[in-house]
Amino acid sequence: MSRETISQSISIVHPISLSHGKNAEVWDTTGKRYIDFVGGIGVLNLGHCHPGVVEALREQATKLTHYAFNAAPHTPYIELMDRLTAFIPVNYPVSGMLTNSGAEAAENALKIVRGATGRTAVIAFDGAFHGRTLATLNLNGKVAPYKQKVGVLPGPVYHLPYPSADNGVSCAEALKAMDRLFSVEIDISDVACFIIEPVQGEAGFLALDIEFAQALRRFCDEHDILLIADEIQSGFGRTGQRFAFSRLGIEPDLILLGKSIAGGVPLGAVVGRKTLMDNLPKGGLGGTYSGNPIACAAALATLDAMTDEHLQEWGSQQEEAIVGRYEAWRSQRLSPYLGRLTGVGAMRGIELTSTDGTPAPQQLTQLLSLARDAGLLLMPSGRSRHIIRLLAPLTIEPAVLEEGLDILQACLKQLV
Ligand SMILES: Cc1ncc(COP(=O)(O)O)c(C=O)c1O
Repeated sequence: MSRETISQSISIVHPISLSHGKNAEVWDTTGKRYIDFVGGIGVLNLGHCHPGVVEALREQATKLTHYAFNAAPHTPYIELMDRLTAFIPVNYPVSGMLTNSGAEAAENALKIVRGATGRTAVIAFDGAFHGRTLATLNLNGKVAPYKQKVGVLPGPVYHLPYPSADNGVSCAEALKAMDRLFSVEIDISDVACFIIEPVQGEAGFLALDIEFAQALRRFCDEHDILLIADEIQSGFGRTGQRFAFSRLGIEPDLILLGKSIAGGVPLGAVVGRKTLMDNLPKGGLGGTYSGNPIACAAALATLDAMTDEHLQEWGSQQEEAIVGRYEAWRSQRLSPYLGRLTGVGAMRGIELTSTDGTPAPQQLTQLLSLARDAGLLLMPSGRSRHIIRLLAPLTIEPAVLEEGLDILQACLKQLV
């Protein structure tokens, strides 16, 4: 298939052409079947073509395919915002807005924060990923490839080390860097917000240090700084709870949503304290497609399927299978390249390292291709592209999960 008509600046992990999918399996145009541990990069927590989502799409498509909410409100948007705000586990009144993507949610959150605080500076974290639009690029804690060749980015944005047991950065180190930032780089009173992933995605599934999260919450309260949690990848059950911030024992002021919010249909959202949401002039928020009725219908069906019982059951089932396998591989010394297991719940990464502990990206590239040939799709992550991130649908059948882990095991064993 010719790719001449597609920009070569879009990088492609797996050079195949997909034709269809069902739950945790996909087929390419040659008829080859793959077990899907990529899940559209965290979009398909409910799997491919979830029957409830498909039915909702079918039904909505016969009723109202589009209306710009700014022009005239429609019931799917209104109903979804009622359900979505009730789904956010915080103790304050919640409101928000819908967007087309995660990056658009992050962009709008920056505007909301500016409107509410009158300040502009943002503190983000090393390794962070918040999107590919101009303002979100600057939030990312990684230069290549995102910030290369695009020139000056909207600021001011500063970065701090991201403390996690998964990357060896301690709470004390991050707090020390924060002290330095506010004595050397910027006045605290100019800071509008911190933006943080409760579990970093692109960086390799690193779970945020709980002590730091709580210290950060206290610091923000003390200095009237807002705290934004980016739950675009970690949300909607990936860690076994609705959202990963619940594990930290804090309430963010704003929460960014996307990916698995609508079972594979493009949708994002900014939700949070109602008191923050109305400070921009009328017309300051919105968009032609944002909150499209079909996307809202898919999100409503997603919420129907995501009961707390299901999320807990799916999360622990997948976590037990992955952690159990990983521990067996460690004790058998399956591969000299097998490094740490990162993350929490069903949001797990497996690091590949050389015997001296340094990242082994070449072996990860080898693994991606061995696994693909054997019928398993995997996704790389990590600053050195040396961490496999496991993002199988939460609804994966136990036998398919085991089959996928068997393939992973066989491929890890072949690494040279
Ligand atoms: C944590 C996080 N934030 C934001 C984004 C950007 O979302 P989108 O690609 O929908 O713009 C991503 C995408 O990978 C993400 O993982």
